[in-house]
Amino acid sequence: MKDLTQAFLWGAATSSHQIEGYNDKNDWWAWENQGKIETGERSGPCTDHLNRFREDLRLAADLGLNSYRFSIEWSRLEPQEGQWSDEAFDWYFELIEECERLGLEPMLTLHHFTLPLWMAEQGGFAWERSPELFGKMTRKVVERLGSKVALWCTLNEPMVLTVGSYLGKFMPPAIYDPEKARMALYHMLKSHVIAYDLIHREIPARKGRWKDNPVQVGIAHNMIDFTVTRSGSIIETWLAEQLHQFYNMTWLDAITGRAQRFRFPLLLTQAPIVSEALGRVTVDYLGINYYTRAQVEFAPKWNGLPVNIGFAKPGEPASDLGWSIHPLGFQKMLKIAGQYRLPVYVTENGIADRTDALRPGYLKDHLRSMIKAQQEGVDLRGYYYWSLLDNFEWIKGFGPRFGLFQVDYQNFARTKTHSAELYQKLIEAHRRQGGDPSSLGVLLESL
Ligand code: FCB
Repeated sequence: MKDLTQAFLWGAATSSHQIEGYNDKNDWWAWENQGKIETGERSGPCTDHLNRFREDLRLAADLGLNSYRFSIEWSRLEPQEGQWSDEAFDWYFELIEECERLGLEPMLTLHHFTLPLWMAEQGGFAWERSPELFGKMTRKVVERLGSKVALWCTLNEPMVLTVGSYLGKFMPPAIYDPEKARMALYHMLKSHVIAYDLIHREIPARKGRWKDNPVQVGIAHNMIDFTVTRSGSIIETWLAEQLHQFYNMTWLDAITGRAQRFRFPLLLTQAPIVSEALGRVTVDYLGINYYTRAQVEFAPKWNGLPVNIGFAKPGEPASDLGWSIHPLGFQKMLKIAGQYRLPVYVTENGIADRTDALRPGYLKDHLRSMIKAQQEGVDLRGYYYWSLLDNFEWIKGFGPRFGLFQVDYQNFARTKTHSAELYQKLIEAHRRQGGDPSSLGVLLESL
């Protein structure tokens, strides 16, 4: 029988550019240096994780985590097309070996928002060569790091990347270009399918602690609960449904062989599904990133979409980013993911909360929702809190604090939050009770 205490993965998630530091060869670095971050900040040395990864992994292991989700930085591995950095591969290999020593099963993300500058300059994922290049990078990563990795995540939030880069202007190149958005969706799906097949086909003989674990490949997909501001408004209900279909559903449908096209409801356009993905399931699990809901408001404009999307209403509990705290939406999104009858990992869930006042409640309420979804039949296999450390929150800079450990950006000291202690206690108690999924539910109810 499977050891239930190890069966459920308790983790924390990070991404390369948000913590490592000194990533000066990607599109975000260039963008930061053009002054595009709202605060004018640059990622610079960031949390100095590059030099402190052993200490950081030790913090994760001391919480009792048994998994760690991180991403590789493509621009470090391949600073120029076809030129590979041994030093960078060795660093990631050491990171993975350190995870192994500490009992943290690695979940390796191949792409988390940043692109090598040489690739971004050619158009990033809107460039037709991007799937081929993504495939080449994946092949190298599999060859050099694959012997010790069972859990793979090809893309982080491809929908967020598309919207941020080509529609909403909050990620480089920050343009409004629906045609490029279509191309990026198509090429990202193609990249994903290439990587999915390649990992399964070319993974080297597995070694070490997790060598018998089956290889699982998926994506981390962001889901938002779209709700309406004026209940009863037919048009807003319709808009919320359109946004839900576009933002939440099309990627899930595309990677599970159910979609015929990416639907862009309000832009009156569509993107085709790559033929390799038609009618075929190209994931072994679904990774869900969930943070909040969005309130959809009908707002006719002379040009632009007839819609405003807002986060928290005045007075409503919200994070430092103004994202409303809405655990019910988490349960709802997990249930939707569960309908695909695949294993589900929560690959990200967390809150920006500088004082750590709201985070304990956020964590408990979201874990409660997760347990409810599990009791309702969703095959949940793991939960990764976002994030292990405070980090560089993209266009918002260093202001939002998502970490279980706070980072002092003057001296890089890490400080444990109360939430980290709570998370640790919950994990310990869950294990003590044999890792039975329902025991966590009982525990949470008793708090
Ligand atoms: C997600 C991103 C992650 C982080 C959190 C707050 O959309 O995947 O990098 O920025 O939001």
